[in-house]
Amino acid sequence: MRYEFPKDFLWGVATSAYQIEGAVDEDGRGKSIWDVFSHTPGKIHNDENGDVACDHYHRYKEDVESMAELGVKAYRFSISWCRIFPDGKKNLNEKGLDFYSKLVDELLKHEIEPFPTLYHWDLPQALQENGGWENRETVNWFEKYSYTVFKRLGDRVKNWITLNEPFCSSFLGYVTGEHAPGYRNEVKRALSVAHNLLLAHGKSVKILREEVRGGRIGIANAVNIVSPASENEDDIRSARMVDEILNGWYHEPIASGKYPDELSKMYEFVGYMPEIGEEDMKIISEPMDFWGVNYYSRVLVKSNPEKFGGFEWVGGDLEKTDMGWEVYPKGIYEAIVKVRNYKELPVYITENGMADRDELVDGRVEDRRRIRYIKDHLRWLHKAIKEGHDVRGYFVWTLMDNFEWAHGYSKRFGLLYTDYRTLERIPKSSFNWYKEVISENGFEDDEELMDGWKIENPN
Ligand code: FCB
Repeated sequence: MRYEFPKDFLWGVATSAYQIEGAVDEDGRGKSIWDVFSHTPGKIHNDENGDVACDHYHRYKEDVESMAELGVKAYRFSISWCRIFPDGKKNLNEKGLDFYSKLVDELLKHEIEPFPTLYHWDLPQALQENGGWENRETVNWFEKYSYTVFKRLGDRVKNWITLNEPFCSSFLGYVTGEHAPGYRNEVKRALSVAHNLLLAHGKSVKILREEVRGGRIGIANAVNIVSPASENEDDIRSARMVDEILNGWYHEPIASGKYPDELSKMYEFVGYMPEIGEEDMKIISEPMDFWGVNYYSRVLVKSNPEKFGGFEWVGGDLEKTDMGWEVYPKGIYEAIVKVRNYKELPVYITENGMADRDELVDGRVEDRRRIRYIKDHLRWLHKAIKEGHDVRGYFVWTLMDNFEWAHGYSKRFGLLYTDYRTLERIPKSSFNWYKEVISENGFEDDEELMDGWKIENPN
């Protein structure tokens, strides 16, 4: 059967600043929490860091060329706050703004729609030293930063994303300690971070309305499909709670101006609830234009009173990517339905893709599993569209292999293979396949639609 996509469907690729730019000491850039974290021994695989990364800061033209060759209609990238305001606050660094302005011009020259994210985890270190996202003042500095960027780029950039995955900034940064700033088991602090991030989101939406004529804005949340590991009632209850922790907490306040009931009661009970100002929920729920959905996998939850929080995540029986994430393509469909249940807004899949053990053999990378991964997800996405869900675009994570946070350079998600010795980018088979999909605005496939990849499946 042929999977045909809507005429204006926005095919894209996504990246983020710290993962690709490098040039950390150039043109007046300040430090971010990720510079400090990645230079702290023991935090990142092999103690790697983003000092050079893909050197995109110097090679952006070449990278835009590759995107043009791929034929994408849109590019999601992130703006590094510490290039614009090195101290996070006051001293505007024109050179930092210039870089993004040139990038935008280069994209438009190739008819690629820029889709910048204002915050993809790289808080200016100077603000962290002042309490970071726990300090409400950071919200005001974010407002100022948003305003500055909107003013400067808003004449050419109409589509904006406020935050990338605030769940990760709060929980991976303050509970698991896997991400910057690297605190552990600080749930109360994580929740105040999350609250301030949501406030920053809402304020930024409001500023966009005032400053960018014809502008559209949304948030890119991680959406995880959470299922109980069994039919057992305790597992079902735990799964519902985890769903609220991961998803509800970052969607409901935006959609309907309140935190999820059950979980708030529990947080209240243990004294974890953040302080909520009178206007806060109104600010957070400032009407926005679309949901960005970052979808990768599902999680299975089992109740376990011995564990922190009373639950644990268990491995399922589906095939896994190199990240150890189960491949569950149906989840992209479920994620779309889910966010539209919170509020019926248009959806962009702002990230989807897989890490695999790609190997360069005779100058080629045959990444057949990645092609199958993307294709299977697109088939489920197509079903959502057919059923009437307004899904406007799809961004592959990611254009080229890059710095995968705590995993350093060990995980490859790109359509382009990055040779880290020479920084050469080499198109993988998936690059050529995706290029064809875009040019045909769809593809043929006769296989049966499967919920997830059963382990016995061959490549
Ligand atoms: C997402 C992040 C993105 C990338 C992918 C693999 O959670 O937003 O930067 O690391 O995972």
